[in-house]
Parts: sequence; C-alpha cells; structure tokens
Amino acid sequence: MRSSKIIEKIKNMSIEEKVGQLNQIQLEDTKQVRDEIRRGRVGSIILADTATAGNDKQKKINVDLLNELQRIALEESPTGIPLIFGRDVIHGHHIVMPIPLAEAASFNTELLENAYRAVAEEAASDGVHWTFSPMIDISRDPRWGRCIESFGEDPYLTSEMGKAAVCGFQSDDYKSTDSIAACAKHYLGYGAVEGGRDYGKTEISEYTMRNYYLKPFKAVVEENVATVMNSFSEISGQPVASSRYLLYDILKTELGFEGFIISDWASIAKLVNHRVAKDEKEAAMLAANAELDMDMVDRCYIEHLSELVEEGKVSEETIDKMVYRVLYIKDKFGLFENPYTEQKKVNFEKHIAIAKQFSDECMVLLKNNDILPIKHSKRIAVTGPFLHEKRSHLGSWAPDYDAGILKSIQEVFLECEDNDKIVFAELPYLWDDIIPTIRDVDTVVIVLGESAKLSGEDNCLTNIDLPREQLEFAKKIKLLGKKTVGVMCFGRPIALGEAELYFDAILYAWQSGTCAAQSIVDIIYGKVNPSGKLPMTFPRVTGQIPIYYNYPSYFGNGMAYYGDGSNYWDCKSTPMYPFGYGLSYTNFEYSQIRCENYILTLDELKNGETFKVSVIITNTGVRAGKETVQCYVSDRVASMTRPIKELKGFSKVFIEKKACKEIVFELGLEELGFYNRNGEFCVEAGEFDVFIGRDCMTDNKVKITVMNIK
Ligand code: BGC
Repeated sequence: MRSSKIIEKIKNMSIEEKVGQLNQIQLEDTKQVRDEIRRGRVGSIILADTATAGNDKQKKINVDLLNELQRIALEESPTGIPLIFGRDVIHGHHIVMPIPLAEAASFNTELLENAYRAVAEEAASDGVHWTFSPMIDISRDPRWGRCIESFGEDPYLTSEMGKAAVCGFQSDDYKSTDSIAACAKHYLGYGAVEGGRDYGKTEISEYTMRNYYLKPFKAVVEENVATVMNSFSEISGQPVASSRYLLYDILKTELGFEGFIISDWASIAKLVNHRVAKDEKEAAMLAANAELDMDMVDRCYIEHLSELVEEGKVSEETIDKMVYRVLYIKDKFGLFENPYTEQKKVNFEKHIAIAKQFSDECMVLLKNNDILPIKHSKRIAVTGPFLHEKRSHLGSWAPDYDAGILKSIQEVFLECEDNDKIVFAELPYLWDDIIPTIRDVDTVVIVLGESAKLSGEDNCLTNIDLPREQLEFAKKIKLLGKKTVGVMCFGRPIALGEAELYFDAILYAWQSGTCAAQSIVDIIYGKVNPSGKLPMTFPRVTGQIPIYYNYPSYFGNGMAYYGDGSNYWDCKSTPMYPFGYGLSYTNFEYSQIRCENYILTLDELKNGETFKVSVIITNTGVRAGKETVQCYVSDRVASMTRPIKELKGFSKVFIEKKACKEIVFELGLEELGFYNRNGEFCVEAGEFDVFIGRDCMTDNKVKITVMNIK
C-alpha cells in the first residue's frame, strides 16, 4: 500500500528538491558538502573515503561528522528529509567474517544470518544505515576477481545465502537502530563478464537469464531487500544502467521490487563510455527513463534531471515515482524517527565467537591421505610464504582491519600445547637453509596463498594455477620424502591439476577473516572437524574455464562436460574437485533414497503438494561431525535442454559418531519447474531423477513422475 504521508511530502517538493533526493555524494568534511546538503541537493552519502574497490583501508568513521551533516539536512535544508548513509559493509565491519565465497562453503544459512546480524550491529552503531551487500552474482569464472564476493556458481545456494544475508542485515524489525538496509547487487549478470575481465561485456540469453542469473534476485526481492544496485556491464548490447526492460519491466514490475535502485559507482556517466549516450545529460535521461532511482556519485542526475524535466524528456511523474521509492525506504528503516546515531557498546566477544564458528565451517578439506588431524605430540615443521601473513586472511572489502585480534598462523601455532614439537622453517631463507630445519620431521605443513589484492574488484587473473614458486617449493619438500599438508589461503578457486600431486593433504582455508589462523590450526590438530563444501567447481587447469556443474545435457551420456567423456586431448574434462565436494575427519554413509509418493499429477503440484524424498545418513566414523546433505534434480526429458543436475535443497546436519539422522527434502512446483523459451515458468509432465548425496557427483537417486491427468 502506498504511503499517503510520503505522497503528501512529495507534492510539496520542488523539482530541484526531488532531484536532490536522487543524488548520492561521497562523504567529505568540507564546506561544499555542508552547503549542498543545506540547499537540499543531497539524498544520500556514501562513506567511501580512501576505499578503492575494497582493498584499501578506510578512514575511521567520524560519527560526530555524520550527525552534524544529518542535523543540517533535518534543520536547515528546505525539505528536512534525513540523509541515508551507505557503506560497503560486505563481510565485516570491525570483526571480519570469511569472504562471501567462503561463507557459501559453510552451507550454513543460519550461521550466515547470525554473522550478518553481528556485522549490521557494528555498522549501525557507527552511523551506517545501508550496506551495499549482498552480492548475489552467479560466478562461474575464478579468473574474475569478484567471485570472492559472490556465493559461487549455483542459483539455489546463492539464493539461500542471499536471503540469509538480507535477513541478517535488515532483521525482522526494519526500524530498529541495529538494522541496516541491504542492497542486492549487481543486477544483472555481472558475474558473466567474458574472460573473467571485470566490467566487461556479457552475452546472456533470456533463457539463461531467467533460469540462472535472475533467480537469486527474485529470492531476495521476496525477502524484501531494501535496495538493488545495477551492474556496470552490458547484456547483449544493452548496458544495464539504461535498460528499462531489466530495471522496470522485470525487476520492479514482474518481480514486484518495492525498494529503490542505486546505480553502481558512476555507472550512469559510464553510459557515455558504452557509447549509448553522447554526453552525461543524455546518460541521465536514459537512466531516469529506465527508472534507475538513485545516482551514485557521478552527479548526472543533480546536474541534468531538472532541465530534462523542463524540456519534457523525463516526466515529473517518473521523478515522483523514483523519489517515492527513496523516501519509502528511508521511512521503512526508521530514519524519520531515528535520524541520529548514538554509538552503542558492541559485544565484540560474541561477534568473534560467530566469526570463529564461521571460519571453522567454511574451510574445505580437499585431500587427506590419512595424515590429518595431526597429534599435538607429533614433531612437525611449519613453513611457507603465508606463515606470518595476517592481512590477506581478511580478503577484499575488510574496511577496518585493525581490530587487534588478527593473528598469523605462526602466532597461533606458538600458543599450542606441545609447541616445542613444532619447528618453523622461515622464509625467505635460501632453500638450503631450510633443509636442516625440516630434516628430522616427517610431516611439513606448508602455508600458501595469494594476497588479498589479487582478488576483489578489478583484480582478475589469466592464470589461476597455484603460483609457480609456491608449487616448486612444495615439490622440493615432497621430493625430500616428507608428508606434506598444504594450507591454501586463496580468495578464489585455484587450479590444482599439477600441484595436487605434491600434497598428502590439502586444507582449502580461503581468506576466512579475523579468526582464520585459529580455525586452520584447530582443524590441523583435529579440535575442529572440517565441514566446508565447495560452492564453485575447481578446475584442473585454467583452460577448463568455464566449468560449472549445472550444465545442460548434450551428446552421449550427457556427462561429457563435467564427467568422464573427455573432449579435451590435453586434459581430462572432469573437474579437479566438483561442486559440493569436501571431506570430513569422519565418514557419512547414505542409505538408498526413498520417496513417500512417487507419482503426483500436475494439478496436485499446483495445489501445493510435494514429493517427499528422504535418506538416512549414518556417521560411521569415530568422531562427531557436520555433513551437508545435498539434493539435486534432473529433468529426464523437457522441451528445452535442462541441466544434468540442479541443486534444489541442502541441509547441514550435526551427527554424533555411530548415530544417524533422516533428512527429508520436499520437491514441489518451484523445484521441478523452469522458465521456458517464452519466459514463462512451467513444470512439464514426465520423469525426474532426484539425487541425494555428499556432492554433485552422487548417483544415489530415485525416479519420480509428474503426470498430466486431470
Ligand atoms: C562496486 C560496488 C560498490 C561501489 C561502492 C563499485 O565500484 O562495483 O560493488 O558497492 O563501488 O563502493
């Protein structure tokens, strides 16, 4: 229902005042900023000072300054409308959680929601009303540096994680002073940039858009996400910032999005670079007519919109609709009632505990030839270029990384019991210097990784192999006859086709935030049982990209792409590690799947009935652990090519040793349907395979049938 209070307010605003609400500027402690606010020319401020796309340290937030600017907006501007302060609070504010790709590896939506609640409390207490997160772009290309900010390659996992993030940031009580507005980005298809080159072009058909890229946005709109940010990219010849079809017809009308759209950084002005607008005025006209509501920092709207309205090129009615959306969100998040920030005492201890559980649960044990966990009493050597590293554990977009509790892996090892059993082979000594140190141990832990600056925005790679010098280093240690444990601290999947040979165990630790080092050591010594599963396929070599599991069936048995039927001469076509893969220190056995009702009619499905498919998981090992049980669906014959398997449910369960649990998945219309060539959602009658297993390669399946009889 439209708010009459807001409609009334808009009626009394001049066109300049309206356009002011659509203008977001950067925070500066200057007279000019104060004057602009005073004149009603600012609707929002982005706290971006010194942050360049997430890899530089931001200035500390000056809450007094924010309150002073707010007071000017309220008391001295003609409209008295509060400002909304936005900041890229991505996976941490003070206490840093794992990078989002690692968070997805936890497959734990409840944990993610709690973590983002904690992040929101910290940010809100510093005056942030709005975060530019979560990023829900489907990422199939690990060369693309921004895959670290995503939840990986799968639409269902991304949707579930995205919804949890939105709930965490916004909470149930939008007006609470602990809640911040979320922003789903980057609508649409940004992760599909060709060659993994950030900001580049994308080619996405309507079929692929609806069945993959749009799904997470639909999910978060249903979760009432407050705002959406457009992608910098173009889709098949049309920059998103000027696409009325994508912004208005699909997002606002078809999906029913009620919040407002913010442009990505200067992406309205970039319509000139795309050469669809001859100048910034034309760019403003195109974006406004597409109903892109708020302009981030490029001043296209504030400089040109009033004139465009006067000239009849943008209607005042369109402007009113855009302003309505901005004021609606300001009102919904309590800015009219609580415009000022009162800093609160934050319970950092609680947030650190959440961060620790998160880093425990996101790390993925990729390989283990009976070497991990290691007993404290065993003599080991620890070495590698990331032994002393701290900053890189935090990844990109970790604005305030001086929380004072971040430790290196060596520091944590030194705090362990029996630490006199550990020798540290320090780098950068000469190789010859290291040999005497490691000579008397049979196990060497090698800590490897990449700098946080190699991933994130605008940081892409052509080669995602384990860096050559790191591979050579591990190889030399292996050739000495040692058992090697590789701890890999990377922001993206890397290609381990060659390197894997030189490790007896691999713990993929990602960049896992404030508590990363503690989790790594706890997993190595078995205090924590690893439970992460891959949210993105790991290729063998860079040349296999793109490789993702939910690829359509083609040729032969349909698995040639991801399975064994190779059509590369120089490499197997199977992934190095498939989607959903990850080992544990215990063993989970899956019973044969059962289905309560093997046949349903289309009408029954439309009336809300579901197939109830279940499996029993038994922990047959000697320790308790968590397992992510995954449910995939495969449509045997359809009018369009369908993926060989698609994730449609998952459940992360804790099971004591020797105990078992039954897991039931319900599959209904939503899980069995797809968008057809006309863009309509449909379920087609026929047979489906339902798979339940430990990763996407499972062949534990049951057949269900949808019949088309009345
Ligand atoms: C990024 C966005 C970010 C914005 C504001 C852009 O360069 O693409 O994800 O939210 O900057 O910092």
